[in-house]
Amino acid sequence: MKYNIPRGTKDILPDESPLWQRIESTAQSIFKRFNFKEIRTPIFEVTELFSRSIGDNTDIVEKEMYTFLDKKERSLTLRPEGTAPITRAYLQNGLHKTAPISKLYYIGPMFRYERPQAGRYRQFHQIGVENLGSEHPFADAEVINLGIHIFDELGLKDLSVQINTVGCSVCRPVIEERLKQFIQNNLNSLCTDCQTRFDNKPLRILDCKNKKCQTYFAGLPDIRKSICQECSDHFNQVLECLDALNISFTINPRLVRGLDYYSRTTFEIVSNQLGAQNAICGGGRYDGLVSQLGGSHTPAVGLAFGIERAVMILQSLETAATADDHIQVYLAPCDLDRRVRGFYVLNELRRAGIRCEMDYVRDSLKAQLKQANKLGAEYVVIFNDDTTKRQCTLKNMKTSKQGVFTFSKLKKHLQGVYTC
Ligand code: HAM
Repeated sequence: MKYNIPRGTKDILPDESPLWQRIESTAQSIFKRFNFKEIRTPIFEVTELFSRSIGDNTDIVEKEMYTFLDKKERSLTLRPEGTAPITRAYLQNGLHKTAPISKLYYIGPMFRYERPQAGRYRQFHQIGVENLGSEHPFADAEVINLGIHIFDELGLKDLSVQINTVGCSVCRPVIEERLKQFIQNNLNSLCTDCQTRFDNKPLRILDCKNKKCQTYFAGLPDIRKSICQECSDHFNQVLECLDALNISFTINPRLVRGLDYYSRTTFEIVSNQLGAQNAICGGGRYDGLVSQLGGSHTPAVGLAFGIERAVMILQSLETAATADDHIQVYLAPCDLDRRVRGFYVLNELRRAGIRCEMDYVRDSLKAQLKQANKLGAEYVVIFNDDTTKRQCTLKNMKTSKQGVFTFSKLKKHLQGVYTC
C-alpha cells in the first residue's frame, strides 16, 4: 500500500454511512420543525476571522488551525468551527436586513490539528445551529431543546446537560478580578498555559484540563456570585425555561468553554458512553461577536455537535437500526441478448422509483439468485423467455411464487408493490 490516510482523519465506509445519513436526516427534519434554515459557507476563510472571534490565546487558534498561504500570500485557514464563518456570512450577505432574527443550521467538515484519540479527529464533522438576533432566554432554551430533540429522536441515551453563565462585558471584569485574586498565590504552580491566561483571559484558566492545575481550583468562587443583575436574571430565566420543558440539567460553574466569543449562557451535552472526549455537543450565547466583526449589536446563541461522536454512541447501542437500503428487485438475465433487454428494464424500473440491481457478467441463474439473496432482494426478474416476446418471469423470493409478465406490465405491477 503506497498511500495512507492522513493522521486524525477517517474514511466513512458504506457500512457506516447509513448511520451518518440517519443522523443528518433526523437533524434536518428537526431543523424544519424548529424553523432553522440551511446555510453553507466555504471550507476555508481568512485566518483573521478565526483569530479575532475564537480568540488569540485559545488552543484552537494557538495550536490547532490548519493555516496556509495562497498563491497571493493571503493567510487562509481551514475552518475549525462554524460559528465565526456563519456570523461572517450573516453580516456579509446582509441577512440582518431581511429579518430581525436569522435561524440558521449547517452540516459539514471542520479541521483542528489536535492529538487524535477516540472521538477526536483532525477532520471531523459538525451539525450546528445559530440563532442570530434574539436575546430572549427562550432562544437559549430553544437551541438546547433542539439538541435534546435530535438526540432523543436518534435514541441516544445517558446524556446530561451542563450549563453555566460567563457574564457579559459589564460583569466579566468583576468575575475575572475575583478569579485572579483567588488564583494569585498559586500562580507559579499552575501550567504555563494557565500562567499566560492569567493576564490575558483569566476566565479560560477554568477550562484547563491539567490535573495538577485542577487541584488548585477547588473552592473557586462561583462565577454566578459576581455576575450583574441582568445576566443573573437572564440565566435564571433560561433555567426556568429548561425546567418548563422538562429538560434536566446540572449547573457547572467551571464550564467556560474553549472559545472566547461566549457571553452569558454556556452549555455542553455530555454522554457517559464517550470516555475522555465525553462532550457530544457544545454551545452558548455570543452576544458580542457580530459587533466584534463589524456589525451592529446583535445577540446570538447556538450549538454544534460532532457527528463522529454521535456515531460512536449509536454504534455502542445494540438497538442501532441499520438503514433500509436493501435491493428490492434483482434482474437476472441468462445470456448476452437478454442482458441487453434486462438493462432496458433495469433503467425503466429505476426511473419508476424502485431500487434494483443487475449482474453484467454472469449467465448462471443459480449464481444470480444467490447474489439476489445476498442483497436482500424481494423479487427477482428472470430473463429466460423467448427474446422476441418482451417477456420475463417475476419470482417472489419470500413465497417462491412465479408469474410471466410483459415488460410494461412488470413495471406497472412492481410500481403497484413499491410506490403506491
Ligand atoms: P466545540 O465545543 O468546539 O464548539 O465543538 C462542538 C462539538 O464538536 C463538540 O462537542 C464535539 O462533539 C465536536 N468536536 C469538536 N472537536 C472535535 C474533534 N477534534 N473531533 C471530533 N469531534 C469534535 C464549537 O465548535 C462551537 N462553534 C459551537 C457553537 C455553535 N457555539 C455557538 N454556536
